Amino acid sequence: MLSGKTVVVGVTGGIAAYKTVTLVGELKKQGADVHVVMTENATKFVTPLTFEVRSGNRCISDMWDRNFDYDVKHISLAKAADLIIVAPATANFIAKAANGIADDMLTTVILAAKCPKLVAPAMNTAMYDNPATQDNIKKITEYGFKLIEPAEGLLACGDEGKGKMPEPEELLQHVLSEIACEKDMQGLSVLVTAGPTQEAIDPVRYITNHSSGKMGYAIAQAAALRGADVTLVSGRTNLSCPLGVKRIDVTSAEDMYKAVTKAAPKSDIVIKAAAVADFTPKTTAYQKIKKDSKSKDMSIEFKPTHDILKEVGQKKKKGQIICGFAMETEELLANAKKKLESKNLDMICANSLRTKGAGFQGDTNVVTMITKDSTTELGQLSKTDTAQRILDALMLMK
Ligand code: CTP
Repeated sequence: MLSGKTVVVGVTGGIAAYKTVTLVGELKKQGADVHVVMTENATKFVTPLTFEVRSGNRCISDMWDRNFDYDVKHISLAKAADLIIVAPATANFIAKAANGIADDMLTTVILAAKCPKLVAPAMNTAMYDNPATQDNIKKITEYGFKLIEPAEGLLACGDEGKGKMPEPEELLQHVLSEIACEKDMQGLSVLVTAGPTQEAIDPVRYITNHSSGKMGYAIAQAAALRGADVTLVSGRTNLSCPLGVKRIDVTSAEDMYKAVTKAAPKSDIVIKAAAVADFTPKTTAYQKIKKDSKSKDMSIEFKPTHDILKEVGQKKKKGQIICGFAMETEELLANAKKKLESKNLDMICANSLRTKGAGFQGDTNVVTMITKDSTTELGQLSKTDTAQRILDALMLMK
């Protein structure tokens, strides 16, 4: 998502610098050209060599090192950067940035750069809460820096409180949300569903399916990165909520029905990627069902659940776009087309459990997007790229 982008990572002298090594690796994985600039104190925690190996570029810490490929490195880096993230940012760095001090390579690059700048403070709680630091933070945010709030927890000094640098995955999300996508969905309200539903048999057992939620989460994340106001109604998954997305956690098909029917009328686009149970036990036992030694078999009676998407389709507002998914094991296109019509959808994303690289749990999918007039095969793509292509297609309908 960051190919063609240049990201400068500033590292100052804090123990959290070791986490920044992972961030640099993640930025590289996203395709960014990553340049690390360290303060001298930062080199006491992690060596420049580590960042050089991770970034594939020379790590700069010495302002007076003449062994550069550019003449005026601080200016060329500042100009080349699409974004600068300083992580961890010490109180000392923040104080310098707040006062326009440029006495090393990092502060000089920062002063010369016009691109978005993110700052992730990491320090002891008392230092963070100190009015001087708070004033400096206020000042740099007024200058246009974006603050990534520190997390709370056990700090390196043994104190407990606010001051921990967020995990690299969270920092990456902030970078992505700044520069990964054009904000072509700004002003749109998007409702996404994801994950499996669980239908309780008794307080101990339930019936579910293999959905991991990855496809729906990728769509929610992509829409948020494109500036949409995203609500994600999610069944139980192990995934963390993408940055900027409002998540409503649900368990059963009935819970999902209630959440979706409440949110759908306010949404410009509805995308139903959840794997919803079509049937639920007629009754849920209040107590744990015990083995009955006399009978070998047992059976459960089921009743149908609401077809949530069908109902949303029936109540479709003017201008609203509705997209469903069809997971099939046979007659992929024919079955998906039937659902497109019967549920009154604008688009359906057909995927077959029988196709290699598609289906539950994996990080890729093989989707065919079907509308009333067209059928477009996306081929095998990461779920992230599939999500972007789906949104591109839906945006063409707006
Ligand atoms: N869906 C829904 N509510 C249900 C069942 C499905 O909203 N009770 C939605 C799914 O989120 C998906 C689409 O309908 O977007 C198609 O789901 P799928 O399971 O493929 O098909 P079904 O409609 O359940 O039909 P069948 O199980 O017979 O294939």
